[in-house]
Amino acid sequence: MSAPVGLATATGSSYAALLGVGAYRPVRLVPNSELVEAIDSSDEWIQQRSGIKTRRFAGPDESVQMMSVAAAREALEHAGIEAGQVDAVIVATVSHMMQTPAIAPAIAHELGCGQPVAFDISAACAGFCHGVGLAADMVRGGSARHVLVIGVERLTDILDRTDRGTAFIFADGAGAVVVGPSETPGIGPVVWGSDGEQFDYIRQTEDWRDVMTSDSPVMPALTMQGSAVFRWASFAMAKVGLEAVERAGITVDDLDCFVPHQANMRITDAMARSMKLPATVRIARDVADQGNTSAASVPLALHRMVQEGDARSGDVALLIAFGAGLAYAAQVVVVP
Ligand code: UT7
Repeated sequence: MSAPVGLATATGSSYAALLGVGAYRPVRLVPNSELVEAIDSSDEWIQQRSGIKTRRFAGPDESVQMMSVAAAREALEHAGIEAGQVDAVIVATVSHMMQTPAIAPAIAHELGCGQPVAFDISAACAGFCHGVGLAADMVRGGSARHVLVIGVERLTDILDRTDRGTAFIFADGAGAVVVGPSETPGIGPVVWGSDGEQFDYIRQTEDWRDVMTSDSPVMPALTMQGSAVFRWASFAMAKVGLEAVERAGITVDDLDCFVPHQANMRITDAMARSMKLPATVRIARDVADQGNTSAASVPLALHRMVQEGDARSGDVALLIAFGAGLAYAAQVVVVP
């Protein structure tokens, strides 16, 4: 190897932290009763199997961009950061319905962020925690100072309202956080990964090319092998959560809050039992009212806990998200 040429290296802040959180919940509240006929189900079955009572479906004006901008504005205000100070925007979504370009630059532009680095990531329900992991490393590595991480979905655009396994679960919304420099550690090491052997467990029914060559093209919907995902999430994810706690240098006794992906109340309970979380740990249960909003679910759940006083500034919270891929990511954070 030739002699080193002495390239400069970017250096960032010693620590990164969540500085603010924001949310956008669509206006229209949809009770189970509105969905049961099309899937031959009942309010009782849905509540018992998933814990979901209502969810929110976006209206025509509540686009991915509109919901993202609203959530991001609240997160910026909470953080006390101007849009012009944001130098990176990461949008986690699987329901921006254009293959290209990404929606992140349009969101950054509407927010008035100038010309930040802006890109989308596709890690389904795990996308937001992937974004927080990336953002923390960017802030510490010196490639960005303030990063907006947005999780947003309009899953109703890709829902088959007659599919018994998905129609009552998935919903719409957006959540956002600002990640920035901190004098104390605010985001623990991310534990993340994927299990591509289970690639088919949650997927779009068809490849776009197959759809477009069919005689009667139909929008490919989300499909899920629910009980297989349920088993994986309930058992494997508890280990990932515990690893994130250990890598953060703490124990479950140090946790104040648990904010898991809002997939199913029974999965949340199974994980909490499996991780032996103390009874004092406050657990996010936003799924009951909001359904499963994929990439938006963790920031929406965190936002609600902050709003309702269940998560206070300085509290230590375990975030964990998992879904299609199968992909997962978890980290311990200090509540902004
Ligand atoms: O966000 C990404 C990650 N996603 C998740 O983590 C979701 C994981 N999966 C789940 O949440 C659950 O699997 C569901 C809530 C989707 C389903 O609950 P389940 O307890 O796994 O139900 P199942 O699919 O095992 O079906 C049990 C029974 C079946 O009847 P039999 O064979 O026992 O007579 C189904 O036919 O329930 C029946 N069933 C329904 N009944 C009423 C399935 N779907 C429905 C329905 N309404 N919608």
